[in-house]
Amino acid sequence: WVCIIVSNVRRDGEPPLIKGWIPYIGKALEFGKDAHKFLEEYKKKHGDIFTVLIAGKYMTFIMNPLMYPNIIKRGKQLDFHEFSNQVAPRTFGYPPVFSSKFPGMPDQIKRSFHLLQGDNLTPLSKSMMGNLLLVFKQDHLDKSKVMFEATFLTLYGKPASKRRHSSMETLREDFIEFDKKFPLLIARIPIWLLGRTKAIREKLINYFLPQRVSCWSNTSQFITRRVELFEQYNSLRDMDKAGTHHFAILWASVGNTIPATFWAMYHLVSHPEALEAVRQEIHSLLKLWGMDDFSDRDINLSREQLDQLLYLESAVNESLRHSSSSMNIRVAQEDFSLPLEAEQSVAVRKGDIITLYPRSMHMDPEIYDQPEMYRYDRFVQDGRQKTDFYKDGQRLKYYCMPFGSGATMCPGRYFAINEIKQFLFLLLLHFDLQLVEGQPKVTLDTSRAGLGILLPAKDVRFRYRLRAA
Ligand code: HEM
Repeated sequence: WVCIIVSNVRRDGEPPLIKGWIPYIGKALEFGKDAHKFLEEYKKKHGDIFTVLIAGKYMTFIMNPLMYPNIIKRGKQLDFHEFSNQVAPRTFGYPPVFSSKFPGMPDQIKRSFHLLQGDNLTPLSKSMMGNLLLVFKQDHLDKSKVMFEATFLTLYGKPASKRRHSSMETLREDFIEFDKKFPLLIARIPIWLLGRTKAIREKLINYFLPQRVSCWSNTSQFITRRVELFEQYNSLRDMDKAGTHHFAILWASVGNTIPATFWAMYHLVSHPEALEAVRQEIHSLLKLWGMDDFSDRDINLSREQLDQLLYLESAVNESLRHSSSSMNIRVAQEDFSLPLEAEQSVAVRKGDIITLYPRSMHMDPEIYDQPEMYRYDRFVQDGRQKTDFYKDGQRLKYYCMPFGSGATMCPGRYFAINEIKQFLFLLLLHFDLQLVEGQPKVTLDTSRAGLGILLPAKDVRFRYRLRAA
């Protein structure tokens, strides 16, 4: 690879440009192979700020987390929705919501997000626990199935006359097939080039047509509100409604949560001291709450009780730190000079893409001692959640960012953490779990870098048995 730095076409104050030698593609292939490694190498060469040509887009990476607050607070000049408004509709197959055809829709969508948070989290968490218990009891353990179905039931509800949907397995298989092609769709590969993907996407969307969804009961307030919201727009076809909010929300709600749950479980099982400590925490708190008789296997925890499981939460956050590769993308709305740190600023042109790649921060040995190591208690200090992490002697405002940042930060983050904790709580309480011997250490599949929680590079086999009550 020959790297060409074309500094003469840069304006004053603009960061170094790395274009590679393949027109348009630029550095896309190297970046796609292992984004973290790629960015670390260029950081060594060019410092904290540089621009890379990736598949026709000039992306400026800000590598120093002390500079993050300056990007994150500039929601107006550096907009997220311009990017998502192009990418999400193409990927999930619906018309862009930021359009004069749908006046007021983006604001209404945004307002619906509060139904995933605050007091609204209480009924959601209660329903999730009930659904986890239902699926766990009948199917025992398959982390992907359990989380997929329990999340689905919690958000979308159950069929009119049964407790579970009969077609869940097919839906899950189709979802996995679609998800495999997700990185290619995001990379703007036309769907007609991707074999059966278009047909599978249509099948998934059809699952959510309004006439089906309206027959389900126990639907969350979040989904109910969004159904009402989309009903206001006559120009939306039924397929668009199904694609826009149901299928896209299904992806948002399980696409990351399932791999995140996998990693949380994998790390605990492969670190016996962590597993023991977290199990110990669960048992002592249950005792404290007078809930240590769980012979009926139906223990339900309130949201407040879940919040007290400090080591469990730290273990979840530690596995998110390890496996998250979400990229934060913002598009400059005007030419301006972006102040970064101390006296430093960088010239930004309208249309430039400013990118944060928090994985570099999560793996920075100055912030996290031995960042490759899994330490279940990394986020606990003196019996409380640890929130002080430092770089260059300065306390970081942002230190763990699996859920994005700023105004567009994942609205489902509290629900996600809660449901992973609930899953692990039930798992540790009711099952003994081991890795099947002889398997090599599992690594991250880095090919999805930038798109959320990374998947394991290969399947992992667990052995389990029900614990005596
Ligand atoms: C957006 C991560 C679970 C709903 C996002 C973003 C990230 C993310 C990185 C983009 C934020 C940005 O760029 O600033 C995750 C992770 C999850 C998770 C790592 C699990 C471990 C969930 C769940 C739900 C959800 C359970 C819903 C129930 C959404 C929605 C958006 C979003 C609706 C779009 C927000 C917008 O357009 O402003 N998520 N998420 N997510 N997430 Fe999550």
